[in-house]
Amino acid sequence: MNKLNSQKIKSDFPILNQKINRHDLVYLDNGATTQKPNAVINAISNYYSHDNSNTHRSVHELASRATIQYEHARTITAKFIGAKTEEIIFTSGTTDSLNKLVNSLKHQLKKGDEIVLTEMEHHSNIVPWQQVAKETGAVIKWIPITDDFRLDLTTISKLITTKTKILSLTHVSNVLGTINPVKEIIKEAKSINQNVIAIVDAAQSVPHISVNVTDLGCDFLAFSAHKAVGPMGVGVLFGKSQLLVNLEPNHTGGGMVLEVTKDNTTFNQAPYKFEAGTPNVAGAVGLAAALTYLSKLTMNAIEQQMHDLTVYGLEQLNTVHGLNIIGSKDAKNRAPVFSFTIKGMHPHDIGEILNSHGVAIRGGHHCAMPLFKRLKLNGASRASAYIYNSKEDIDQLIVAIKAAQKIFGVDK
Ligand code: ALA
Repeated sequence: MNKLNSQKIKSDFPILNQKINRHDLVYLDNGATTQKPNAVINAISNYYSHDNSNTHRSVHELASRATIQYEHARTITAKFIGAKTEEIIFTSGTTDSLNKLVNSLKHQLKKGDEIVLTEMEHHSNIVPWQQVAKETGAVIKWIPITDDFRLDLTTISKLITTKTKILSLTHVSNVLGTINPVKEIIKEAKSINQNVIAIVDAAQSVPHISVNVTDLGCDFLAFSAHKAVGPMGVGVLFGKSQLLVNLEPNHTGGGMVLEVTKDNTTFNQAPYKFEAGTPNVAGAVGLAAALTYLSKLTMNAIEQQMHDLTVYGLEQLNTVHGLNIIGSKDAKNRAPVFSFTIKGMHPHDIGEILNSHGVAIRGGHHCAMPLFKRLKLNGASRASAYIYNSKEDIDQLIVAIKAAQKIFGVDK
């Protein structure tokens, strides 16, 4: 297997070649968003420079080019996650994918039905379900986490019942870095109740590990382009074709219909019936360029690089006095997402001092407040690495953390 050369990869990302506060930028906020390589920037620029038009609705040359590129992006995306082309719905991001899905599925929910989530979900896989539970009378149940920040798999056989309609869970936690065994969980859930609809929030997994929807056995899966070196404002909802046939769109208007009369509308087939309005063609073009870029590096090599950074990051963070890692210290089934607290320091102060050293990290509750409540924490700092990060970036992180501790007098 080829090994990634993070230095060479870094040179593909123009934004990374800059100084912040007189230090070389060390970008470690990839859980929030990743940077974009020239391949993506140029694809979007070329599209707007040469091919921009609305899709499907015109017969002129530019409309034809825009349509071809939009549909080509769908094919590339489908291939990337092992889906069929017609199973890929473009959205504005993971949150949009999940909201659209939840609001379509609500017609299938009634009082007393059960929705199973996990304690490590992002708000985007909690709040829409809470809204729908309020509307329908469905009940939310939670798969708990263990003291090692993994899902407690022993609870699944009790939580999944004949009343379970939905199982919706994150593949990789944006706070803990835990890679959940979603394939095994879905298999167990469906062995208890074959009608359970299994949904995967893959926002943090698609960039980091090979994701194949057929292998996972999921019914729906959502992710965003921007966390996988693609542009913001475009995302994906995968849905099994046999389920999309009967799923009602909840977003309606132009571009998703076959016929509209004064009294009625006949919807087009999937995926078009879920894509009302003018699509984000440039976004889809950028997403395709991003997935092509990652495919050239190969997901196997990316996975290995992510593992190496996880091992090194955990090792180095463990040496810092007073630093508590919020996540498993075992690098197995773990992404290089390092949340941590430091005794005597607030995440906000840590972030500011690190920024003065050119190191970009995030602080706060990371849109996962129920998880922080479970952990009895108000927030944490988070350094999250990606393909252009090297061991030297982790070293720079540690230097900056130690400098911050010194300023606050908590270094010993
Ligand atoms: N969900 C993103 C994060 O974890 C924004 O930072």
